[in-house]
Amino acid sequence: MKKIAVFRKEHFNAAHRLHNATLSDAKNAELFGKCNNPNYHGHNYELIVKLTGEVNPETGYVYDTKELSKLLKENILERFDHKNLNLDVPEFKSINPTAENIVLVIYDILRAQIDTRYELNLRLYETERNFVEYPA
Ligand code: NI
Repeated sequence: MKKIAVFRKEHFNAAHRLHNATLSDAKNAELFGKCNNPNYHGHNYELIVKLTGEVNPETGYVYDTKELSKLLKENILERFDHKNLNLDVPEFKSINPTAENIVLVIYDILRAQIDTRYELNLRLYETERNFVEYPA
């Protein structure tokens, strides 16, 4: 069967601070720059979700995008949008909310909700120019 990829783009705003308490303030400033600002700062994140699978002959869909939209709203947007990632999202109590770690957290949440017959790939934009992909 032919495989087709379906994409859904979502958006969320969130604040974060990148900081490693085991390093000096100077080292943190050097490593994380503006993202080390003690009083946090925001990003406009863009998330692109890619699902790959076969067309369901009954519906003509690979995956119903209404269902995908609902899944993303309930599991990702409600958890991340207009939140302080460090303070509001338990996963980031102990790990730095970099784009890399955010995409890994999102992947684990979604992978648990999406049937394994679909391949899942994510791209997360922290800025227009900086983005990550998982799996690589
Ligand atoms: Ni930042």
